[in-house]
Amino acid sequence: MNQSARCLRWAADFLRNTRSKGLRHACRYARVRLIDRLCERRLGICTEGTVSTSELGFTDPACAMYAPIGYEQLRSALSLVTIRQGEDVLLDYGAGKGRVVIVAGTYPFRKVIGIELSESLLAIARDNLKRASNKLLCRDIQLVHANALHYRVPDDVTILFFYNSFAGHVLQSAMEEIHRSLIRMPRRLQIICCNPSRFDEQARTRLWIEKTRAGVLFHDMGVAVYECRTDRLSPTESAPKDILLESAV
Ligand SMILES: C[S@@+](CC[C@H](N)C(=O)[O-])C[C@H]1O[C@@H](n2cnc3c(N)ncnc32)[C@H](O)[C@@H]1O
Repeated sequence: MNQSARCLRWAADFLRNTRSKGLRHACRYARVRLIDRLCERRLGICTEGTVSTSELGFTDPACAMYAPIGYEQLRSALSLVTIRQGEDVLLDYGAGKGRVVIVAGTYPFRKVIGIELSESLLAIARDNLKRASNKLLCRDIQLVHANALHYRVPDDVTILFFYNSFAGHVLQSAMEEIHRSLIRMPRRLQIICCNPSRFDEQARTRLWIEKTRAGVLFHDMGVAVYECRTDRLSPTESAPKDILLESAV
């Protein structure tokens, strides 16, 4: 999108937000957009915009559309966990155009992994990753084409990131797989969840997930951090299934 088209769109959004939610909200939202633009420029990437599920060709209603988290909100969410330099491995569930993976790559993670269902978004994410490579601290960043429904969580992952990726049976399946990964390899595992209401519903019934922090990132966008309690795992909770390899979709 060129500069003038972007300005027109910003102005239209500003007016619409002012009418629907008031001037104060419109100003706060405009600030988020401005910070996003500056961060995109600094990293030399393009992860802005939304892509609907129909445009992505998703037929499973549990799978969400693409809409990136704001940069400022992302950094605030990451600040809720202590990152152990050269040790921690972050997995972004639903990497989209790669914003979370690339920003996480500016932190001293040992490895960052992003999984994404849409091949077209993944191609954009890979291109963005190349563009930002000279700005990253983490040297091991992997973008994987996978459906979270079948994805086998690598047993060295220590931080999971969720932002409006999927719900229902896909989320349930992902949680069962996280549980299986912990049974395979008991370890410290933290989960950062932005907009956590759906995750909360599922976490409530699982004793091994404990909410340790909660806050607000922006307006009505909450965030929660969960610790996985390996002392509360139950081998019967997630009956083993035939999990497909990570490249399988
Ligand atoms: C709200 S976007 C978040 C993108 C990215 N994490 C960010 O904040 O910039 C959700 C992403 O999850 C992806 N997604 C939806 N269902 C999925 C599934 N079953 N497996 C993997 N990715 C999925 C969508 O294609 C979309 O890119």
